This record gives sequence, C-alpha cells and structure tokens, in this order.
Amino acid sequence: MYSRIIKPILFALSIERAHRVVMILLRIIGIIPGGRWMLRKCCAVKHPALEREVFGIRFPNPVGLAAGFDRNGEALREIAALGFGFIEIGTVTPRPQAGNPRPRVFRLQKDNAIINRIGVANRGLEATIRQLRRPHPGVIVGCSIGKNAATPPEEAPYDYLKLFRNLYQYADYFTVNINCDNAFREEWHHAREYILQILNPLFDFRRGQNQYRPVMLKISPDMPDEVIDRITDILLETPLDGIVATNGTLSREGLHTSRTSLTKIGSGRLSGAPLTHRAVEIVRRIHTRVNGAYPIIGVGGLMTPDDVRAMLDAGADLVQLYTGYIYNGPGMVKEVCRALIDDAQRAEAAQQAAETAAAKVAEMTTEENAPADSRPTTADKSAATHHVQ
Ligand SMILES: Cc1cc2nc3c(=O)[nH]c(=O)nc-3n(C[C@H](O)[C@H](O)[C@H](O)COP(=O)(O)O)c2cc1C
Repeated sequence: MYSRIIKPILFALSIERAHRVVMILLRIIGIIPGGRWMLRKCCAVKHPALEREVFGIRFPNPVGLAAGFDRNGEALREIAALGFGFIEIGTVTPRPQAGNPRPRVFRLQKDNAIINRIGVANRGLEATIRQLRRPHPGVIVGCSIGKNAATPPEEAPYDYLKLFRNLYQYADYFTVNINCDNAFREEWHHAREYILQILNPLFDFRRGQNQYRPVMLKISPDMPDEVIDRITDILLETPLDGIVATNGTLSREGLHTSRTSLTKIGSGRLSGAPLTHRAVEIVRRIHTRVNGAYPIIGVGGLMTPDDVRAMLDAGADLVQLYTGYIYNGPGMVKEVCRALIDDAQRAEAAQQAAETAAAKVAEMTTEENAPADSRPTTADKSAATHHVQ
C-alpha cells in the first residue's frame, strides 16, 4: 500500500511538506481513540529475540528513528507505535533557529538518497522541554544536542552544557552532534581537542547527578580513518559511552543523479543508499579498535534488512533509520524486525543442533573410554533387555 498509494502522493510533495503532512497525520492518529493501537497492530513487532540491553537501557528492539525526523519530540508515542525501539529527537539547539532558506532538502530518487542542508532548524530548548514533559510512557528517547549556528566555535561548550543540564531529566541518553558546526568541517586535526572541550563539562555535570545518562558522540563519514581512530580513542580515555556512526556525507561520489541536477541542488549532506558501505565500514573500524567494548549506534544508508544485518554484524548494538524509512515506508521496521527474529531463531536452532551433536560425541567418547570391566558386556545388555521385557 505504501509504495503504490502513499509514496506517490508524498513524493509528489516537496520533501519538507511531505514530512510536515506525516507529522500532522501522526498527531491526528494520536488523538483518535485507538489510533496508536491501530498503528502498533499494523507496524510493530514484539518478540523477546529483539530485545537488547545497551548502556544500561533495555530496548524493545534495536531499530531506532534517527535524529532529524522528530526534531522537536512532537510525536513520540505515535512513532513508538510505528514499531521503533527508540527515537532520537533533535538536533536541539539552545535557541530556536530557522535553518537555511528553502528549498533545502532534496530527493535523489535514482540513488535512493536525500541531500539536506536544513541547518539544524528546530524550536529550541524551551519548546523541546514542553514536548518532553508530555507523558510518553515506555518510549525510549535519545536527545541529539548541538550548538546554535550563531554561536562561535569557542563558545560551543556552553551551548552543549546548557542543553545537557536542562534536558538531563527528560531524555534517556544524549548524542553530541558535532557535525552541525560548519566552521569545524575543514579542520579535522582540531577535532579531538574541540570534542573534548565539549564533552568534559558534560561529564563533570553528570558526576553530580543521581541518575546516569549515557552520552554518545555522532561522527561524520567524511572524517579520515586516522581521525576516526583518534576520536574512537576518546572512548577509552574518557567516560564517553559510545558512538553514533554516521551522519550524512558531503561526498557526491558514485551517484547516478546527473551532475547538472547535483549542481542545481547545491551543498548539503547526502544520506541513503550511497552511504551504506562507508557507514558499515566505519562501524566495523570502531568496533575492532575498542574490541567491542563500547556501544555503537549504526546509522547511514540502511535501506533493507540485509543492510541492517551488515551493520549489526559489523559491530553495531543498535541501528537507526532515516532515508531508508522515507523510501520504504512504515512497513520497514516490521520487515527488519521479522528478519532479525528469523536470524535469532535460526541461530538458536543451529546452536541446539550443535549442542546435541556435541553431547552425542561426548557420550560416545565416555563409552569408549570407560574401563573394560565397567562397560556393559553383550550378556549384560541382553539381560537388561530381558529385564525390561
Ligand atoms: C532531512 C534530514 C535531516 C536530518 N537532521 C539531522 C539532525 O538534525 N541531527 C542529526 O544528528 N542528524 C540529522 N540527520 C542525519 C540522520 O540522522 C542520519 O545520520 C543520516 O541521514 C544517515 O542515515 P540515513 O542514510 O539512514 O538517512 C538528518 C538527515 C536528514 C535526511
């Protein structure tokens, strides 16, 4: 139904208008009695094999909605009813900001991709708190935080700290989004110092709190591998809890969309299918470097259940969808969850078969190694048989 009816209608609209329509529809469904129940019935899958314990939080399934979709936390319960195991809201900045002029989001249908230069448009801290105060029982909410565009890089730590302090009690985990800083883009060699200046005040604040809120760091796929390694090492050296990899890319390599169209679209971060390979590669790199000891949320170009499998195999503990969801529609979470249940059941069956085989081998070996006089003789066996008879 999505690909034949809903998608053509939504894709006939500009991507931001389509997004607005979807958010309004979700909120209408949320106020209709039984609306969320219906969404859950159609789209959500619940199964013990899907559950994950990551950074001390129990997730009903590992498939989350990536940052940038519900930027202000307006439809948390409805999005959870669509089957997502968690929702990352934001990126939120201290003050509301309008972002870049429209049009600023573009579909690249030939590439199953999106280019966006929204520029972290959001309603700001106060509005987000108002949304998060509305009850959303059982919904796991991560909050992506960033600095205002007008804040100079040297003052960025104040923006992040302000958001962290004020949102601390409302979110289950936080993601520090450093990509929203355009000025920083060209200076990867300063990345580590810049990130530490932002993170350290957050850790100091957290030390004084009764409740623990994990802090994740979201990274760009455009960082050279050595920079990714240096940033990964922050996990080993500080109380940083994990990494979200990755954001959209600035690269335009290997696209089917014409050069002319790309030039017309202009700058922005590319997400979707062209990103899959790099995002999975980065997750594998981080996972290997830290020996799987820290949580990774894998995001970027997850368009099919197989992409999600590849991301989890590379070492992600959780995944997030954005562009894949836009192209595949609300059936995608269910499809991915079913594939993961199948995998878990197959793995369990294989393990059981292996255990049975191992038990048989052990039994045979014990029999063969038993002392000759304790082994049953043919006469014993026949006596036993007669006894049973
Ligand atoms: C329209 C749009 C807006 C986004 N806004 C944000 C944002 O505000 N903060 C953020 O951290 N990531 C944002 N992202 C990036 C996504 O969270 C995700 O990291 C990226 O799109 C790669 O995943 P995907 O290929 O599944 O879309 C945005 C992506 C899109 C397409």
